[in-house]
Amino acid sequence: MAAENFPLQDRVAIVTGSSRGIGKAIALHLASLGAKLVINYSSNSAQADEVVSQINSTSDHPRAIAVKANISDPDQVKSLFDAAESTFQSPVNILVNSAGVMDAKYPSILNTSLEDFDRTFDINTRGSFICCKEGAARIKQGGGGRIICLSTSLAAAFRPGGAENFPLQDRVAIVTGSSRGIGKAIALHLASLGAKLVINYFSNSAQADEVVSQINSTSDHPRAIAVKANISDPDQVKSLFDAAESTFQSPVNILVNSAGVMDAKYPSILNTSLEDFDRTFDINTRGSFICCKEGAARIKQGGGGRIICLSTSLAAAFRPGYGAYIASKAAVEAMVKILAKELKGTGITANCVAPGPIATELFYEGKTEEVINRVIGDCPHGRLGVPEDIAPVVGFLAGDASEWVNGQILRVNGGFI
Ligand SMILES: NC(=O)c1ccc[n+]([C@@H]2O[C@H](COP(=O)([O-])OP(=O)(O)OC[C@H]3O[C@@H](n4cnc5c(N)ncnc54)[C@H](OP(=O)(O)O)[C@@H]3O)[C@@H](O)[C@H]2O)c1
Repeated sequence: MAAENFPLQDRVAIVTGSSRGIGKAIALHLASLGAKLVINYSSNSAQADEVVSQINSTSDHPRAIAVKANISDPDQVKSLFDAAESTFQSPVNILVNSAGVMDAKYPSILNTSLEDFDRTFDINTRGSFICCKEGAARIKQGGGGRIICLSTSLAAAFRPGGAENFPLQDRVAIVTGSSRGIGKAIALHLASLGAKLVINYFSNSAQADEVVSQINSTSDHPRAIAVKANISDPDQVKSLFDAAESTFQSPVNILVNSAGVMDAKYPSILNTSLEDFDRTFDINTRGSFICCKEGAARIKQGGGGRIICLSTSLAAAFRPGYGAYIASKAAVEAMVKILAKELKGTGITANCVAPGPIATELFYEGKTEEVINRVIGDCPHGRLGVPEDIAPVVGFLAGDASEWVNGQILRVNGGFI
């Protein structure tokens, strides 16, 4: 191992709160630079063990251990340093204090309970003090000693609690087909804006569970669940809404219908089988209709209600080989424009987002490299879109700022069409 590749070779690092989130990423990065790691956690031993295994799987000798310690307890912090020293037979070189909490209610100061204030200061401030104090006493002197505390950029921004940081705070959103692809990116984005999420999938429960874990790892309280439902079955769509309501004890505010299929044989209309036509319409059109109908009945009225259907920019381009697919989405566009008018007085808006080519399984399936390169060549930005190009547009439509956008088709394609 050459020093320039592994600049932290054999240095001992403690990263507090590294079982998940930013601490985990820091620990994995320090390990990749050659450091030996103490993965500290307070409650989630399984996640900490997973980080340890991930690091140890890259080396013949164990280079990471997990140590439970509450950083706001001086004795437990002492034990953390003891464990590092005795395991690695070396003083600690690096302390990264990443453990921290935030009150997920985002209350104003007026509405912050003393209990919540005490808990925040106990872990974030007292905990940092205790770790820094122990580090100042025990980190190796004479060069290379480092103490790094995770603070927040908000400390320079002085934002009030609430709405503008998390404009979808506590709104309940269902995103169909969000186990992967565009739906997944939309779900993650809505969660980052504060929404509670129902991750719907049809066949792929493992991928849906992963999206749920990703969202839940950013919060103390579960903010996402996975629900299996075929969107072209009305009873299953009813159950989808039931699950959202009962889990989050609230009506649904936002429905994003992203689930969809495309015939990867790209047949001419002449060569499209009736079975393929029926399957395309069953999921894309009938599925959208069933979701919109359930949404129109159950989404909370009186403001903030949103229905957003994923269509396609191809519905404005009429390309050969996409007959059934484009027709199935053109029908959705027509339906959504009517729905927006029929929802008069409810405060619920209905719009379509119509992406151009986006690098997902749906796009790649059945296409040769030559076809893919031709599509890229037709894109003004010289690349395919990615799901993260679509998610912020849906995020905008899901929020209050979009109230005046209603019954519209937003073609989001980088200028492709
Ligand atoms: N990618 C593009 O280039 C592109 C361009 C324009 C428009 N769109 C539209 O954008 C939407 C998302 O496409 P994508 O590229 O993200 O597709 P994708 O990567 O193939 O993902 C499709 C998603 O839909 C789910 N799904 C399929 N059939 C379902 C059903 N009957 N009930 C519930 N969920 C079902 C899948 O769940 P499982 O994983 O559980 O099967 C998966 O989560 C589609 O409506 C598509 O037509 C895509």
